[in-house]
Amino acid sequence: QIDYTGMMKGPQNPDGFRNEELLGLQTKLDQAKTSLEIRWEAGQLDFTKLLISIKEQVPEIIKYADTVATRFDNFVVLGIGGSALGPLAVHQALNHYYYNELPPEKRGHRPRLYVVDNIDPVRFNELMEILDPKKTLFNVISKSGNTSETMAQFLIVRDILRRECGNSYPEHIVVTTDKEKGNLLPIALVEGFQRFVIPAGIGGRFSELTPVGLLAAAVCGIDIDQLMDGALSMDHWIWESKGVLANPAQLRAGLAYLSWQKGKNISVFMPYADGLKTMADWYAQLWAESLGKRYDLQGREVFVGQTPVKALGVTDQHSQVQLYVEGPDDKVLTFVTVERFKESRIIPLDSGLPEDIHFLGGRTLEELLFAEQKATEYALTLANRQHQKIILSSLDEYNIGQLLLLLEWETAYMGELLNINAYDQPGVEEGKNGTYALMGRKGYEKKKLEIEEYGKT
Ligand code: PA5
Repeated sequence: QIDYTGMMKGPQNPDGFRNEELLGLQTKLDQAKTSLEIRWEAGQLDFTKLLISIKEQVPEIIKYADTVATRFDNFVVLGIGGSALGPLAVHQALNHYYYNELPPEKRGHRPRLYVVDNIDPVRFNELMEILDPKKTLFNVISKSGNTSETMAQFLIVRDILRRECGNSYPEHIVVTTDKEKGNLLPIALVEGFQRFVIPAGIGGRFSELTPVGLLAAAVCGIDIDQLMDGALSMDHWIWESKGVLANPAQLRAGLAYLSWQKGKNISVFMPYADGLKTMADWYAQLWAESLGKRYDLQGREVFVGQTPVKALGVTDQHSQVQLYVEGPDDKVLTFVTVERFKESRIIPLDSGLPEDIHFLGGRTLEELLFAEQKATEYALTLANRQHQKIILSSLDEYNIGQLLLLLEWETAYMGELLNINAYDQPGVEEGKNGTYALMGRKGYEKKKLEIEEYGKT
């Protein structure tokens, strides 16, 4: 469910939107839908177009995952950005919070999961220190097969495995990359690594529901069939429902667009469930990299995009909420709440303790959490600040599949409303090329000179 009351005009919220403003966007949203259909034809919307064919690959992924799950103690994802945040977010949302610390029988005898999404040498070496390479499977994920960070990690790991595992080292590497392009592919073919494909028309940040995310999830016991079913149901809902009030992606994008027009250039994503903390990281990348653009589709300079901020309820009530209630009125908040937690905890009654804390006794932790969320919502409303809420009935595979697709779709709609290309990342590419140049990659000599010249100034 989406509760957007806090975005609309009300007695406490005079600056909220009027119904007519939201409904007035319908023509623009219909045009956005037409543009999205054109993108679909052009193969730029494969995150929705290929859902059914990816669902058909689920049995093959599960079969492989079940085989390796019994063989290895550790499953390590090597990747960055869109090739790492999704696997991490889904794992944290659906598995035991301390999954890696559980004894094997409580993990269903499945491997521990590590997602190494950086190249900090301390973290990298310390991870290698605790892993036995002979009992570890590394999943190298790179759509381009070129990303410096991932390729560097891969080269180090390959070297370790060759030394530690001898001729059997290829059995310790599974590669997820493009079917035809990139440097990872020929190495995988020559060295005989197991391979999964990231479809060409799905960008990194839209790729969680492909082998990028599905493999790690299946290896760690997540029901990826249900995850895909949830995604497919949301996809169907978004394609079939008509009008901004019925179509959840149009509604969320429409509200985001109206708020952007009113100068709210910060979008805070604040789940009230620790399991969704890294979902906020995943959302932040999706929103920032897709929508933060200098040029519109006609090549005019526009400098658009809302800055995503990750927050966690209730933790960040004690760090960020002060700013949201009383600071500049340049933000909109999305709370994500979970109606039924899979665990409950009663706070014990103890009448011998100071009376001031008696109100807690006999209540549950989730009651306290719900009350805090509601109270924060209320404080924001009183301060005339806009907020909305995505409500999940529980944290399960189906709902997470729905949530991922909803957020991907609303990003796609917002891209059309902003009249930009949500599927490229020229600002990131510039940095990637600069890194190649500074590290001495062939073909980047001119760029290297340029950067060195810049360094002198
Ligand atoms: O969303 C994106 O396109 C990026 O975040 C990429 O996923 C990231 O740069 C990693 O790229 P690759 O998967 O090609 O190694």
